[in-house]
Amino acid sequence: MPRAFLLLACSLVATACADESEDYTQDSFDPIEAGDGSSEEEMTAFTQNASYATARLDPLGESAATGTVTFTQTEDGVVVEYDLVGLELGEHGFHVHQNGDCGRGDDGTPGGAAGGHFNPLDAPHGAPSDDRDGRHVGDLGNVTSEAGGTTGGVARGQKTDSMISLSGPTSIVGRALVLHQGQDDLSSQPSGDAGDRIACGVIELAAPPAGVGTDSTPRD
Ligand code: CU
Ligand code: ZN
Repeated sequence: MPRAFLLLACSLVATACADESEDYTQDSFDPIEAGDGSSEEEMTAFTQNASYATARLDPLGESAATGTVTFTQTEDGVVVEYDLVGLELGEHGFHVHQNGDCGRGDDGTPGGAAGGHFNPLDAPHGAPSDDRDGRHVGDLGNVTSEAGGTTGGVARGQKTDSMISLSGPTSIVGRALVLHQGQDDLSSQPSGDAGDRIACGVIELAAPPAGVGTDSTPRD
C-alpha cells in the first residue's frame, strides 16, 4: 500500500516538478541584470547584439567633473568616445573598475565601492598598448583635458581598445568607468598612481543612436 501511494503521488506532482526545474533553468540562464526602465525584450536584444553601451559620469567628492562615455563594438575593438567637462587641465587616469557601484568605499573614499581595476585575466597594471599579460582589461590609460569649457577643462576624443568587450568574460557592461584626479603613469602597481577618483559612472547597454558606426565626420 505505501508503495502504490508513492507512485500515485509521483505521477500527480510530476508536472509541477518539471515546471519548477524549467523555470529554474531559465532564471539561472538569464543574462539580463538590473534594467533601467527598458523592457525585457529590449534588454534581451541589446544583450544579444551587445554593440553599444554608455556611462554617464557624475562627480565624486569635491570634484566638478562630469560627462558621458560611449562604447561601440566594432571589428577592430571597442571604440571609446568620451566627452568630459569640469576637469583640471592635464592628464587623468581613465579605467574600467570591477564593480558597477560608484558609492563610497568601506573607508569612506568617494567611488571606493567600484573596487580595483577590472582584471579578469589576473594581469598587472599597465598601458592600453600592452598585451593581455601586461595590463588589466580595464586599463584605458589617460584622457587629456584642455581649456575650453565654462567650468574647467574639457576632454573630448575617442580611442579604440582591443581588450575590452561588451559581451563575454572581458565584458565591461555593468562595471564602473572611473576618472582620476591625476595621471596614470601606466606602470605603478596596482593602479598607476592616478590619485583620487573624481567621476564615476556605471556602464550600461543601450540602443545605438541612429548612424552609429557609419558617421565618419570627425568630432571637435
Ligand atoms: Cu581607476
Ligand atoms: Zn590597472
